[in-house]
Amino acid sequence: MSSKKDSRALRFYSDVLGLEHLHYGLWERDEELTLANLKAAQTRYQQAIIDLLPPPPARILDVGCGTGELSKALKSIGYEVEGLSPDVNHIDSYAAKVGQPFHHCVFEDFEPQQPFDVVIMSESCQYIKLDKLFPMLTATMKKDAVWVVVDYFVKDGVSGVMAKSGHTYTMFHRAVARSQMTMDYDRDITEAVLPTLDFAANLVARGELALSMLKQRIDQRSFILSKIVNLILWLARKELSKLEQSRILIDSAAFKEAKTYRLMRFIRA
Ligand SMILES: C[S@@+](CC[C@H](N)C(=O)[O-])C[C@H]1O[C@@H](n2cnc3c(N)ncnc32)[C@H](O)[C@@H]1O
Repeated sequence: MSSKKDSRALRFYSDVLGLEHLHYGLWERDEELTLANLKAAQTRYQQAIIDLLPPPPARILDVGCGTGELSKALKSIGYEVEGLSPDVNHIDSYAAKVGQPFHHCVFEDFEPQQPFDVVIMSESCQYIKLDKLFPMLTATMKKDAVWVVVDYFVKDGVSGVMAKSGHTYTMFHRAVARSQMTMDYDRDITEAVLPTLDFAANLVARGELALSMLKQRIDQRSFILSKIVNLILWLARKELSKLEQSRILIDSAAFKEAKTYRLMRFIRA
């Protein structure tokens, strides 16, 4: 994820939606698609990670820590936590929110001074190439340390835009089998993350409706303004077409067909 993209998305989540977490959350069955329920789902997701950890005190590396929300919670319950993110925007937010050591780099380039008891990757594992991931984990974790991964993976046989983000699930497990990691917990949470996509699709649909109503009004009221709007739409046609093509990324049925979202814990042998 580029820093520029990251920061735009970050500003949308935090300034517009008031969200501090950058993950899908964990919904309960038949919950209404509201912002309050999305926030509650994200808190539930965070708790599901915490439930898999050894009791404090333990040294934790929060890889791809985002704004530092999980690290803040970990610190408040007695863990010694450090954050890591390549996004320049996370330096200040982590300092203000957590006030713990922060490593501004990709995990691939991390140089640990002391190995950790726990490494957490909450929706960040997908950005780290598999051939770099496992040697880095070995360098970063103590013997018997815990690695928690919460992320989505691409199912076998999926191609095109839906295969662009996430490791292929079978390739990931093949790499695990060759590594020093042993999985001792695996929960399929795909169904429980889908409402976040439905929430996003609703938001987009409402935005589109508002824009089309606005355009209709402009068309009816001002010939010149209507021509200017049409010109802007024509100039932005490539971006609009790209947006249209990426609509599938917030389609929960397409996500369910192509991906599996897992909460997993591994122990380093
Ligand atoms: C979707 S956000 C998840 C943030 C946070 N863990 C959460 O669950 O709210 C992905 C995070 O991974 C980070 N990231 C991207 N590439 C990375 C890499 N190669 N190594 C470590 N972190 C990376 C991003 O900067 C961002 O902080």
